[in-house]
Amino acid sequence: MDQTTFSAVDEFAADLLAPHDEALQAALTACEDAGLPAIQVSPLQGKLLQLLVGLQRSQKVLEFGTLGGYSTIWMARALPADGSLITLEADVDYAEVAQRNFELAELADRIDIRTGPALETLLTLEEEGAGPFDFTFIDADKVNSPNYFAWALDHMRPGGVIVADNVVRDGALADRDSGDEKVEAQRRLHEMLADELRVTATTIQTVGSKGYDGFTIALVREA
Ligand SMILES: C[S@@+](CC[C@H](N)C(=O)[O-])C[C@H]1O[C@@H](n2cnc3c(N)ncnc32)[C@H](O)[C@@H]1O
Repeated sequence: MDQTTFSAVDEFAADLLAPHDEALQAALTACEDAGLPAIQVSPLQGKLLQLLVGLQRSQKVLEFGTLGGYSTIWMARALPADGSLITLEADVDYAEVAQRNFELAELADRIDIRTGPALETLLTLEEEGAGPFDFTFIDADKVNSPNYFAWALDHMRPGGVIVADNVVRDGALADRDSGDEKVEAQRRLHEMLADELRVTATTIQTVGSKGYDGFTIALVREA
């Protein structure tokens, strides 16, 4: 098996199960035209996020790492008309691209994009009494994934779900001597989860158009 096969399977399945409509395609094109890095989730991953948001019957969603808003659009489409999604992005230029994409997708009324380093924005969200969230997607600077997880967990409803992306990192997750701070952060996240009585979690390795990686999914216990 190689990357060509992984990409071909992704393409086959995505064409049938997660096809782009005009707004999703326009969002990706706008990201490319603006020179944003192509590090958004794949179409099938976007669809998975949408299914999870829907399965949770989510009203309030929190996202760390907007980029051009591709994953945000997938998730926001599973919200009811009175639902809301707060998405956090450090880069002002990326946030502008995302905001235009939300308007084109006719979702701007339910998406609140906050610009600035997420750890700082969280202080504001805390003051505002944001949450409790039904679903959180962690996909920003990977060194801070454990910090984002810790904050999110304190602001989730019982039965809520937290997904953290890019935790496997080409298999480096298993390497205790990796020396890479992003890998170390994912190892720390797993150690936190193992000791955290408020959640039950698993990690799934994935291959696809985005290569070899994986995500962690944590369910907040009801009591
Ligand atoms: C992997 S991309 C997000 C992709 C997006 N979730 C998607 O799938 O369409 C990560 C994003 O996190 C942003 N980011 C990096 N550091 C951040 C920080 N400290 N606070 C908020 N966002 C940050 C980056 O600018 C980038 O846009």
